[in-house]
Amino acid sequence: MPFSPRVFSGMQPTGNLHLGNYLGALTRWVEMQSTHDCIYCIVDLHAITASWQDPMELRQSIRDVAAAYIASGVDPKQTILFNQSKVPEHAELAWIFNCTARLGWLNRMTQFKEKAGKDRENASIGLYDYPVLMAADILVYRATHVPVGDDQKQHLELTRDIAQKFNSDYRAQITETGQYADGQFFPLCEPVIMGPATRVMSLRDGTKKMSKSDASDLSRINMTDDHDTIAKKIQKAKTDADGIPSETAGLAGRPEADNLVGIYAALKNATKEAVLTEFGGAQFSTFKKALADLAVAKLTPVNAEMRRLSADPAEIDRVLTDGADRARAIAGPILSETKRLVGFL
Ligand code: TYM
Repeated sequence: MPFSPRVFSGMQPTGNLHLGNYLGALTRWVEMQSTHDCIYCIVDLHAITASWQDPMELRQSIRDVAAAYIASGVDPKQTILFNQSKVPEHAELAWIFNCTARLGWLNRMTQFKEKAGKDRENASIGLYDYPVLMAADILVYRATHVPVGDDQKQHLELTRDIAQKFNSDYRAQITETGQYADGQFFPLCEPVIMGPATRVMSLRDGTKKMSKSDASDLSRINMTDDHDTIAKKIQKAKTDADGIPSETAGLAGRPEADNLVGIYAALKNATKEAVLTEFGGAQFSTFKKALADLAVAKLTPVNAEMRRLSADPAEIDRVLTDGADRARAIAGPILSETKRLVGFL
């Protein structure tokens, strides 16, 4: 294996982070930091692609997301934590990759289709190009592992396609250096999509992903929700007429039940099977009470720590600047080598 393992991942600072972000990505990030070199980013360049962001709110969101990462257990000393716009190498590599990626590849991206909706002609070019910048985020560090939720799978396949095409377009130059085994300059990174909550669904509709953009606040648990709000949202969560089954087969065709069991399992760091062994045969009212208690116990300390950190924005800014300096020390030489391979003087 020519690449030493390196982890990269990021989140957008648009609105509140929610339980899907926390269980699908953040908890995995925290686990990986004790075994890998990790780089975690607040992707503010991505944040302005879908819609205009109020500059004051964007600045606040960047700091809030940094606070959420740290409060969830990301250690800014052990890992590199920064916001994307502070490291211009991301955008510069994205330009080179714009000339590697093909229109046909981007035309297949389902997230663009969903976000652009019917008003495609009015979508920003940045929204269309979003996955190319995402590939640059990862490959500017030659990262090998990317912990994300299930919805990012297609973007990571595109990242691999871009890496592969770049390696093949510049194979002669890459081989000539004699430094890169197998003629691979960029790694084909592996998605890390693991655990019982890789796709947390809306609390109001088990067929829809939990999302920041859902009009109903009852559909999601925000990381800033207090004790009572979390309990109320779980109590109001949609369920069906049956109780909790004893085996996972009993969750088939029951998206709301499956979602709540998955959330419980992820919060408890257990499997769905173990949860069903404990609650099989119970009524939803009993299960929801236990789920609310667990969610409150897990999330309210994170929430309190977020508030504590947010009270000192200067310290957050210092952490982000320090992280950006360390990120640039890695990205700078990789971008220079990329430019040399391409033939820039
Ligand atoms: P974003 O900001 O939409 O989401 C951040 C992370 O949270 C995960 N996630 C979920 N996981 C489970 N259930 C859900 N309902 C749910 N909703 C969101 C996402 O999968 C993601 O891991 N394009 C990325 C940000 C990005 C990035 C990158 C990620 C930019 N560059 C490079 C990895 C590597 C995004 O929009 O995430």
